[in-house]
Amino acid sequence: MFSSGTLMVIAGPSGAGKTTLAHHLVDTFDRATFSVSATTRAPRGEEADGEDYFFISHDEFAQKVEDSFFLEWAEVHGNRYGTPGKWVREKLASGYSVVLDIDVQGAIQVKKSVPSAVLVFVLPRGRNVLLKRLRGRNTDSEKTIEGRMEAADWEVSRLGAFDYFIQNCGLEQSQHDIETIFTAERMKLSGMGWPDAAIEFVPEKFTGLENWKGKQVLVSSGPTREMIDDVRFISNRSSGLMGVSLAEAFLAAGAEVTLVSGPAAVMNPPGAVELVRVQSAADMKRALQERCRGTDLLVMAAAVSDYAPETRLSGKLKRSEGKMSIALSSTEDVLASMKGNFRTLAFALEYGDEARGRAEAKMERKGADAVFLNRGDLPGQGMESSVNAGSVLFPDGSEIIVPAGSKKFVAFCIAAALGRRFS
Ligand code: CTP
Repeated sequence: MFSSGTLMVIAGPSGAGKTTLAHHLVDTFDRATFSVSATTRAPRGEEADGEDYFFISHDEFAQKVEDSFFLEWAEVHGNRYGTPGKWVREKLASGYSVVLDIDVQGAIQVKKSVPSAVLVFVLPRGRNVLLKRLRGRNTDSEKTIEGRMEAADWEVSRLGAFDYFIQNCGLEQSQHDIETIFTAERMKLSGMGWPDAAIEFVPEKFTGLENWKGKQVLVSSGPTREMIDDVRFISNRSSGLMGVSLAEAFLAAGAEVTLVSGPAAVMNPPGAVELVRVQSAADMKRALQERCRGTDLLVMAAAVSDYAPETRLSGKLKRSEGKMSIALSSTEDVLASMKGNFRTLAFALEYGDEARGRAEAKMERKGADAVFLNRGDLPGQGMESSVNAGSVLFPDGSEIIVPAGSKKFVAFCIAAALGRRFS
């Protein structure tokens, strides 16, 4: 069906050998490429705009930082360099893996915007080996080398943020190691869509997915957090897995997908999905309204808090004996407030005999074009579970039943069902 690429970030102290390993990946594998950075520095010699760098002005760069255009950026010797998020996402969506060879700080920034990025830390056998290598290059003064070693100490202290570690003792072994990581990442199911061999078991469930090609889909996911003070909050048990699975399904179907997620346990969509992190119901509304223009479908899988504390205390509320009460007021219904030229899918988690009637009433109240009903009272389904089942209901009273399966399977069935109805 479809395979989106991996975002591989290779980092480590200067002199660790990361650039050699990054080149090795791009030279060895099909559909692997370096990212093209944007920079404020002037082109040198034959450098071509859009190939070696995107050359932009200082003002443009500052505006793009404001607009969260970069996955990471840094200032080096008075010029700024950044990795453009949209460019990377488009490459990944077209099946290319993108290799970034950047510093440790940049790698950590990338992981925040793209949690599914694979971070590899490269280090020689020990501190003395690194020092010897830097001296052996004969390019830097002793003072520069001292600066690089100090930077290395800081960088190594951030090692825990990485996914893989390569101890670079010899070129051949390290090349083999990085190939192994890359190959394993390419075999991961996440980012692979639903494999053709698996579709063959239930092909009719996947009919309709093709109608999402080239469309724009906005998915909300996870719980929201309504803060009581700077530490405590009101929230719910939503894991975010259903939202991430839906983002993956629409991406695999060929749509351009944005995932707006509250602070969920699961927040690692494929790198080709734009991830926007929000906290409260009010933040979620703002983020969705900013991004709904041009969208074809809004999938409202988020479990938005229905109540929020009336006031937020700053700092940390002290413990005291006895009772306390917190005044709550209801939050705005985000879905009901979303108006525009797009279809909407609501989610309804319902208990008891009247489940279907309540889900249908919700669809009408919120002006949605469909609602996915899942039952909280059936064993092994719903929030915090890895499986789900239910049915997609439409305003004309019809329904498409989605059989039980992993949330990823259910997400593909929902996307296909909507593709059949909304095309
Ligand atoms: N929803 C929303 N804004 C809210 C609450 C819910 O947009 N403040 C959306 C959810 O994302 C979901 C749908 O509305 O798609 C149904 O959510 P649910 O919590 O089941 O419905 P509520 O309106 O909160 O009704 P109730 O709590 O009575 O079930």
